[in-house]
Amino acid sequence: MDADTKKRQAAESALDLVETGSVVGVGTGSTTNHFIDALARIRFRVDGTVASSEATAARLRDRGLRVADLNAVDEVAVYVDGADECTRHRQLVKGAGGALTREKIIAAAARQFVCIVDDSKLVDVLGTKAPVPVEVIPMARGYVARQLVALGGNPFWREGAVTDNGNVILDVHGLDLVDPTAAEGTLDQITGTVANGIFARRRADVVLIGAGAEVRKLS
Ligand code: A5P
Repeated sequence: MDADTKKRQAAESALDLVETGSVVGVGTGSTTNHFIDALARIRFRVDGTVASSEATAARLRDRGLRVADLNAVDEVAVYVDGADECTRHRQLVKGAGGALTREKIIAAAARQFVCIVDDSKLVDVLGTKAPVPVEVIPMARGYVARQLVALGGNPFWREGAVTDNGNVILDVHGLDLVDPTAAEGTLDQITGTVANGIFARRRADVVLIGAGAEVRKLS
């Protein structure tokens, strides 16, 4: 089974965790796009959605789902999103699609965070396969990059990319992520950063892994 089919397999299995009459938080990326298509099939069972990016909001509306502002909803029952890397402790690196800040906000606000991945995303230690994206206020790009180098990182400006919040992205290779919670906090302390793509403090509650023969579950 190819990676995209495994992504769809994980995405479809997340439907079981959607509560009738609830607001569903929806992430960004190719795995989440499969989830949106599946969610559209049961759209009359959900009260609405909140979206982690403009692209996701457009796809949700196109599929007939109501998209609400996060400030206008009382509770997000479940947030469903993909990841670039995932450990067996359900800690993640996210943000290859550039939507990490809004993803982090909805994950924080949600009662349950469900991560959907294909099995190629599993790692023993975060940072093994994917860089850590950091969303940065544009005028702070050079300053933040120097601070990241001082921490042992190797930052690359994602040239041309502008986030939905009007900011830029630095993709950071080579950081020591053996303690991801500490690393997430350290990056958060750099003035001029908005958010970083380490999801360790608010990790996933459930990870659904499309693995071909079956969907494996971490919880
Ligand atoms: C978007 O900013 C990311 O956090 C995605 O969730 C992540 O990159 C996974 O993307 P795919 O589902 O496309 O692999």
